[in-house]
Amino acid sequence: MKKKENSSDFKIVVSTTPGFEDLLAGELMRLGGRQIERHTRSVSCVGDQGFLYKINLNLRTGLRVLKPIAKTRAASDKELYENIKKIDWSQYMEKDGTLWIESTLNSEFFNHTQYVAQVTKDAIVDQFRGDTGIRPNVEKERADLKINIHIYRDEVTVSLDASGESLYKRGYRTGTNLAPLSEVLAAGMVMMSGWERHIQLIDPMTGSGTIAIEAAMIANNIPAGYFREDFGFMRWKDYDSTLWDLIFEKSIERITDHQPEIFASDISANVLKKAKENVKNAKVDDVVQLKCASFFDLAATKERGYIIMNPPYGERMEKDDVPALYKEIGDKLKKDFPGYSAWILSSNMEALKKIGLHHTRRVTLFNGALECKYMRYDMYPGTKKIHKLDKSEEG
Ligand SMILES: C[S@@+](CC[C@H](N)C(=O)[O-])C[C@H]1O[C@@H](n2cnc3c(N)ncnc32)[C@H](O)[C@@H]1O
Repeated sequence: MKKKENSSDFKIVVSTTPGFEDLLAGELMRLGGRQIERHTRSVSCVGDQGFLYKINLNLRTGLRVLKPIAKTRAASDKELYENIKKIDWSQYMEKDGTLWIESTLNSEFFNHTQYVAQVTKDAIVDQFRGDTGIRPNVEKERADLKINIHIYRDEVTVSLDASGESLYKRGYRTGTNLAPLSEVLAAGMVMMSGWERHIQLIDPMTGSGTIAIEAAMIANNIPAGYFREDFGFMRWKDYDSTLWDLIFEKSIERITDHQPEIFASDISANVLKKAKENVKNAKVDDVVQLKCASFFDLAATKERGYIIMNPPYGERMEKDDVPALYKEIGDKLKKDFPGYSAWILSSNMEALKKIGLHHTRRVTLFNGALECKYMRYDMYPGTKKIHKLDKSEEG
């Protein structure tokens, strides 16, 4: 049966990192979103206020939750200024409040994001000053209203940013080592891997512990934003704290205390100290088993399992011979992990070729600005030969 349309429903756009659109659409569907549409690096849907709160708290692969409030056109800064000024901003913020504007552009008319933000800010500030004699101030951290301006050609979409700080900032990571993965990337990698909580998972180059922590949170339905104290919508004029409390309670009721086997190790004792701190902050220290060890000293303890690995790429971390390291990784997987599936994320294509195993999946992902391949290798038990049949490429 089709769900009834609710008059308090509105459109919502959630941004993500390239390659995670399908995962995000799936999450939005499971959380109760309707009219879900995939776009490049974002997914849109329809929901109400409670849904907006719920997805900010729970989404693992979303970066920002935006609520579009106006669509207009502009082919010049003057037009942009005039049209932004036509929106009644007093609906959304107080005259002495604070605001911050971010813009994303794909337009022949505008090419400076900061300039677009400046023009938008001027229009809003001038409206308040003209109407009340008092103007809001600009503030980057924790602004009362964070506004997103998206311009495609001359089509301007004005949205309120319900997340505030990006959702990858989960709030559990106090210490990071060199080259940590974004929490959103780590969560998506786990979700994409096919791992389920009854199967062993190894994160053998754990660094700050991100992959293992995200997996432990997934396994126990711990909302991704459980440790965050702040979301942008909490400073909106229509913020309903009773509704938020209800949504929060409902979400944390779903937390379980499964004890999946999640092993996280790293060769560096120093690195591991921060991982330990993060694991503790995320309250998954009873689930994630940390160990200081080289990957080359680990061995399979089960008939099957998953390995999700983020080895050094040789970009940000110094390594004399990264391709040789990858060759050793491939040899080790083949020799000592029969029955396991290994996923490796790397931007170093030369080195990845040295793994020397046939991949069964290859997905393009971005680690920050670095284009990476996320490769799956299945080590079949018994023969120690790698299956050659299922060689699907991208996706
Ligand atoms: C790119 S970082 C991993 C980042 C991690 N995913 C995170 O989110 O912080 C690579 C890690 O591999 C570790 N490493 C390098 N060689 C290793 C080896 N032979 N065995 C285990 N860990 C190793 C490094 O100490 C480093 O922490």
